[in-house]
Amino acid sequence: MSLENMKAMLNKAAEQKYGVGAFNILDYNSTKAVVLAAEKLKAPVIIQTSAKTVIYWGTKAIINWVKELAEESKVPVALHLDHCKDLALIQDCINAGWTSVMIDASSKPFEENLSLSREVIDMARPEDITVEVELGAIVGVEDDIHVKEQDAHLVNIEQALEMCFTLRPDCFAPAIGTAHGLYKGTPKIAFDLLENISSQIDIPLALHGGTGLSVEVFKKCIALGCAKVNISTQLKYAHIDGFVNYHKAHDTEYNPLKVIDSQYKKLEDAVIENIKIFGSEGKA
Ligand code: 13P
Repeated sequence: MSLENMKAMLNKAAEQKYGVGAFNILDYNSTKAVVLAAEKLKAPVIIQTSAKTVIYWGTKAIINWVKELAEESKVPVALHLDHCKDLALIQDCINAGWTSVMIDASSKPFEENLSLSREVIDMARPEDITVEVELGAIVGVEDDIHVKEQDAHLVNIEQALEMCFTLRPDCFAPAIGTAHGLYKGTPKIAFDLLENISSQIDIPLALHGGTGLSVEVFKKCIALGCAKVNISTQLKYAHIDGFVNYHKAHDTEYNPLKVIDSQYKKLEDAVIENIKIFGSEGKA
């Protein structure tokens, strides 16, 4: 299938109360693991790239990998730019063929966040590109975005409603107490806030900071409107552990393709595990 934007897949997921996995890829091998895992489970899937990954590889290489894999696949695949503060990079990704982008102006004062988010929606919508916006501050590190614990704050409900009603983004990411990276303790999720928002808007929500959440938390957030579920850190660990574990077990063997294959399997297992939890198996 050709690459899709997130609109149809997220609206359907929100309606039927399952989550579409949005997985941050690192290279061709991880992209392949995400798409083929989704294909195995007949699940729609979102390939996410951090701004840092886009800068590292360049848009041309990434769009080529993703397009080729999506076109050979029978499941809907979207290519989404995760947390991006840089409008020029967002424009580059739109020009290169990304089907979805996220403007993260959540560190700015509310009015500025609104106006930057509006600017991106105006850039993207004529090209049929979906847009995710964020409000509140999600703690942790997501590549080059760092939010310290003392600076994190939950989304403000009045501002959330104003943002959704005035901008009508395709996906809304409210800070509800989840965090990027590994959790130090048990996360305190503001389910009441999530319920309050989702009962008043008809826009699919994104759940950030997926790595380390329990199955119960995933299921509750999805039931409360989180149609997009982000996983990044778990794949970074799978990528490195896949390499290290293989090498430790075969320390005299220097066969890179076997190492790559071991990484691939770890990544594929992680994606399969999450798709099953999110309930999107068979929904393609
Ligand atoms: P994790 O790194 O905690 O999985 O979060 C992913 C994410 O929300 C990407 O935006």
